[in-house]
Amino acid sequence: MARDYFQLQDKIALITGASSGLGAHFAGVLAEAGATVVLAARRSDKLAEQVAAIEHSGGAASAVSMDVTDPDSVDRAFTRVAEDIGNIDILVNNAGVADDPIRFLDTGEEEWQRIVETNLNGAWRVARAGARHMAAAGVAGSIVNIASVYGLRTGAMKVAYNVSKAGVVQLTKSMAVELCREQIRVNALCPGWFLTDLNREYFESERGERYIRTIPARRMGLMEDLTAPLLLLASNAAGGYMTGSALTVDGGIAESPV
Ligand SMILES: NC(=O)c1ccc[n+]([C@@H]2O[C@H](COP(=O)([O-])OP(=O)(O)OC[C@H]3O[C@@H](n4cnc5c(N)ncnc54)[C@H](OP(=O)(O)O)[C@@H]3O)[C@@H](O)[C@H]2O)c1
Repeated sequence: MARDYFQLQDKIALITGASSGLGAHFAGVLAEAGATVVLAARRSDKLAEQVAAIEHSGGAASAVSMDVTDPDSVDRAFTRVAEDIGNIDILVNNAGVADDPIRFLDTGEEEWQRIVETNLNGAWRVARAGARHMAAAGVAGSIVNIASVYGLRTGAMKVAYNVSKAGVVQLTKSMAVELCREQIRVNALCPGWFLTDLNREYFESERGERYIRTIPARRMGLMEDLTAPLLLLASNAAGGYMTGSALTVDGGIAESPV
């Protein structure tokens, strides 16, 4: 039945970068749809606040500490979830960082490494751990990699971020092809701009406000704009056939004239 498509009862979902912003929203959405959610990030106090909010709304949630730049931390977190909660059905691979706009000629080693290590290497590390756990448990799961519209088109003075997110889109497609035989779907969600700690300073500045006026939709995204797209990719609504896609939710940025 169409109305049952988004039901996630009996599913276990792990969301990385769930201590704030999009990840916290995604955790709340999946819990509301009935999933048992596990929120992962580094800041345990922020995770505890999000877990309490979900529990307060009647959802089932817990937290696990994870630094996506540390292979041992990622492995430990996945093992803990498997032992304490069960096999994950849904992975939302969302942890990420952004850089201030910088000219390519001024790009430094340290900043390049920080962005790529978290957004691309971290996403790969987490996706691989999730896929390995799903495959070993024989779970027909769903992995949603959070890329960006800048994985599909070029944001000005954002070379490291653009490259890291383009990598996440290709990671998604490469995984999707191989993991079909394991019944694991892998898709990318490519948001435009949503107000979070990642970009608050910029979008509350005059330059940020000017940029918003160039978005075809003439506004930033609202968290609710991501709810149904996330559920589509995470749930059985996409059947077994939607895999390797990069779904934009961006107010038209990806298709807007340069
Ligand atoms: N906001 C937007 O407009 C937008 C647009 C397109 C794509 N995105 C993507 O959406 C994702 C979430 O961003 P957001 O806007 O929600 O930003 P945010 O509020 O700053 O959240 C980023 C999350 O990533 C976590 N994180 C960062 N580094 C980590 C690490 N090394 N290990 C584990 N967790 C880490 C942070 O948790 P801790 O600091 O507690 O570890 C936090 O929970 C990112 O991948 C971002 O690129 C955002």
